Amino acid sequence: MGKLAGDARSEKAKVVRIQEWPGSGFTVEVELASDLTPLKPGVFAMLSPADGSGPMIPRPFSILDQPSPRRLTFLVQVMGLGTQALAQVAMGEYLRVLLPLGNGFSLPPADRPVVLVAGGVGCAPFLLYLRARAAAGAADQTRLLYGARSQDFLWEREALASEGCLVELMTDDGSVGLAGTVLDAMVAGLKGESIPPDALFCACGPEGLLRAFCAQAQELELDYQISLETYMGCGFGACNACPVPTNPEGALGDWPLAKACLDGPVFAGKDVLFS
Ligand code: FES
Repeated sequence: MGKLAGDARSEKAKVVRIQEWPGSGFTVEVELASDLTPLKPGVFAMLSPADGSGPMIPRPFSILDQPSPRRLTFLVQVMGLGTQALAQVAMGEYLRVLLPLGNGFSLPPADRPVVLVAGGVGCAPFLLYLRARAAAGAADQTRLLYGARSQDFLWEREALASEGCLVELMTDDGSVGLAGTVLDAMVAGLKGESIPPDALFCACGPEGLLRAFCAQAQELELDYQISLETYMGCGFGACNACPVPTNPEGALGDWPLAKACLDGPVFAGKDVLFS
């Protein structure tokens, strides 16, 4: 393994809680061997079964929560071989974790409004974000638009709602919350002036949602950030599996490609070419 940045480390972490969700999702809590300092919303870890089962390449996951300095939770949607292997790891068994990785979302001053846009499992980085904003006295300036195809894919709703920020739910089929998409809600809020256009907009979710979000945000000239952690091999800059085209006019424009794992996974919209 190449050199890890900062206090990143690789270790075996014991599975101490598993919460199953409808729609092939689950939350897994692990216990680390030693304490971690409080983590910034949007940082991530590479996870794989510690016994070597499943694909060789670990998968990236945002840190969902940090219940204590030594405990972390992750939200997993079972979609392929890597996540299927993680779903087989039972209570008391171990995950290989490489963490903390990446940069995380910006937290602006408390008086600046923030709009978080999440699709399905993309809600994961926003629990820590909502908590950080509430702790800064900015709960009333913070809104989460959280959508999925149906209620079975809107996970961790109670936890997200417990931080005192405004949490609005949307489903494609109307099974819970408003019928429609998070982008419908965002545009309606901007048109109706319940969402101020000078807010910071932060998005995380499936690639299709992120591309549509970026197109909309560019058209409306919003200040926005996106989390891109889909395709990664190593997680720490060694394999070049996570290139993101940069905007020559942006802060990363000295080089045509950034690395999602090192320079991201969170990018300011003006710094990358992604839409
Ligand atoms: Fe290996 Fe980014 S995942 S360089």
